[in-house]
Parts: sequence; C-alpha cells; structure tokens
Amino acid sequence: MVLRPVQESDRAVLTEIFSDPTVATWWGDPDRSVADTLAEDEDSTHYIIDVDGTAVGMIQSYEESDDMYRHAGIDISIREPWQGKGLGPEAIRVLARHLIDHEGHHRLTIDPAAHNINAIKAYERVGFKRVGVMRMYERGPDGTWHDGLLMDMLADELRD
Ligand SMILES: CC(C)(COP(=O)(O)OP(=O)(O)OC[C@H]1O[C@@H](n2cnc3c(N)ncnc32)[C@H](O)[C@@H]1OP(=O)(O)O)[C@@H](O)C(=O)NCCC(=O)NCCS
Repeated sequence: MVLRPVQESDRAVLTEIFSDPTVATWWGDPDRSVADTLAEDEDSTHYIIDVDGTAVGMIQSYEESDDMYRHAGIDISIREPWQGKGLGPEAIRVLARHLIDHEGHHRLTIDPAAHNINAIKAYERVGFKRVGVMRMYERGPDGTWHDGLLMDMLADELRD
C-alpha cells in the first residue's frame, strides 16, 4: 500500500470513490466531497490509498495549528469491493505513524457517525478510543442530524 498526495488528475477516480453508495451514505454529496478534497487548504492533506496501482480510497489529515490545542484529525473512505479487508486500518496506521513520527503530534482524533459500527471497529483496531458522543453532530444525506462519536488516540497507543 502507498499513500500518495491527491492531484487534480485524480478527479475521476475521486468521483468513483465518493459516488460509491456505501461511501456516499456517510460522506454525502459526491461532488462536494470531490471539490473539498481537491481544494487548496494549508491545514489539510489528502492522499489516494493505492494498492498495487489501484486507487481503493482516500484518506486525509487535518492539523490543528493552534499550539495550545495541537493535534491532527483523520478521515477515510475505502470503496467497494475493498472494504472489510483490513485496508482501512492499514492506511490509518501509515498516516498516524507519519503524523506522530514526522509531524510530532501527540494526539490524533477521528469522528465517525455514532452508528457507523464498521468504522468504529476499524478505528478501535488501530488504537483509537471512544471519548464520547457528540449529539446531533452531523447532517446526513437525508438532511437529518445524527450523533457523532469522538474518538482519540495518544501517540503511544498506536497499534502496529
Ligand atoms: C470504515 C472503513 C474505513 C473501514 O475500513 P475497512 O478496511 O473496511 O476496515 P476493516 O477491514 O477493519 O473492517 C472493519 C469491520 O467492518 C466490517 N466491514 C467492513 N466493510 C464491510 C462491508 N462492506 N460489508 C460487511 N462488513 C464490512 C468488517 O468485517 C469488520 O468487522 P469485524 O471487525 O467484525 O470483522 C471502510 O469500511 C469504509 O470506508 N467504509 C465506507 C465509508 C465509511 O464508512 N467511511 C468512514 C467515515 S467515518
């Protein structure tokens, strides 16, 4: 597996990833997700998850730049048929290791929908712990609000 920075030429493959119904159900409007992924943002970095030359998903980090609250957040999506094979945890380990060892972060966060059971299992596999439920945190594709689960992981909790 290789994580490589997203480029404008990845627009078509990003559209495929975000249009996968099993991804769009959590990420919402595919066009908005593609635009957000390709937008210039100095605090965020987006990567294509490449497995043997196939773009199976996207993973991104957001780095809080305020020194008092310094940490990094991660978001990920793997498209079918590559889900459920441990690729999500593997990609998160690679990015988490980079954020800890090279960017000097002591704490990472991730915030799945509270009912995204598969995502929560995958994140716990890497070492993330449940902090608490953020009520009515996120609006789903159907327009209704739902709870989010804040999870975090300290540097020495990352599981290889
Ligand atoms: C969430 C996600 C990143 C996890 O990555 P992954 O590589 O699938 O993770 P794992 O292989 O460790 O699977 C985690 C669990 O989900 C289950 N699972 C994942 N995809 C599944 C699928 N399509 N059908 C059935 N079960 C699935 C696995 O069996 C595993 O359960 P287990 O621990 O009981 O065996 C990935 O499934 C994904 O991107 N899903 C769609 C979009 C999404 O939810 N993004 C996250 C938004 S916060």
